[in-house]
Amino acid sequence: MISLALFNNKGGVGKTTLTYHLAHMIHRMGLRVVAVDLDPQSNLTAAFLDDDALESLWQGAGSGAENDRAPATTIAAAVKPIMEGIGDVRPCEPVSIDTDLWLLAGDLPVGAGQPGRSYEVATLRNYQSLMPLAHDARKPMFDLRTADGAIGSTQRLVERCYHDFRSLSEELIRRLLGPGTKGD
Ligand SMILES: Nc1ncnc2c1ncn2[C@@H]1O[C@H](COP(=O)(O)OP(=O)(O)O)[C@@H](O)[C@H]1O
Ligand SMILES: [Mg+2]
Repeated sequence: MISLALFNNKGGVGKTTLTYHLAHMIHRMGLRVVAVDLDPQSNLTAAFLDDDALESLWQGAGSGAENDRAPATTIAAAVKPIMEGIGDVRPCEPVSIDTDLWLLAGDLPVGAGQPGRSYEVATLRNYQSLMPLAHDARKPMFDLRTADGAIGSTQRLVERCYHDFRSLSEELIRRLLGPGTKGD
């Protein structure tokens, strides 16, 4: 099996379009192809499937989540037990697009805000005023001291930054190692 990963941390540069077209072309060349949508925006999934298929896919993705043995229909649903620290990856059933062409579907965080359906760990605050100081001092933003130029209101921002990253780290450790792990 050959795996081909298309990655760029810049948006809007053609990743999804390229993946979609390559999957179709390589399939047309006679190979068996599984397109895997690892982008939470799930544009690749939306390119392959029409609105009705998307709706039933995403509505059904959460069902059976309590049963680890049931195959998930999206990647997000498959890794959900790991994200919540309650179990292992569930098998994921690809959507058949054509003979020898499948899609492992991505999942929008459609249920964000609903209990148990939020995939967002944190929103990163804009620390524009701290980043240049941290670069110069070659240390994390939350370790900046007066001698590094963190004076007045900047020092309070440093403290806020420390608490933000502390909370984020604790949440990540909790999710990765399971509930009840404090990380301190
Ligand atoms: N080769 C191309 N020529 C012209 N427009 C393109 C090309 N590839 C992608 N696009 C357009 O650029 C936009 C971003 O492409 P997309 O594949 O969604 O980027 P990404 O997945 O990197 O965010 C889309 O509107 C798409 O139609
Ligand atoms: Mg994309």
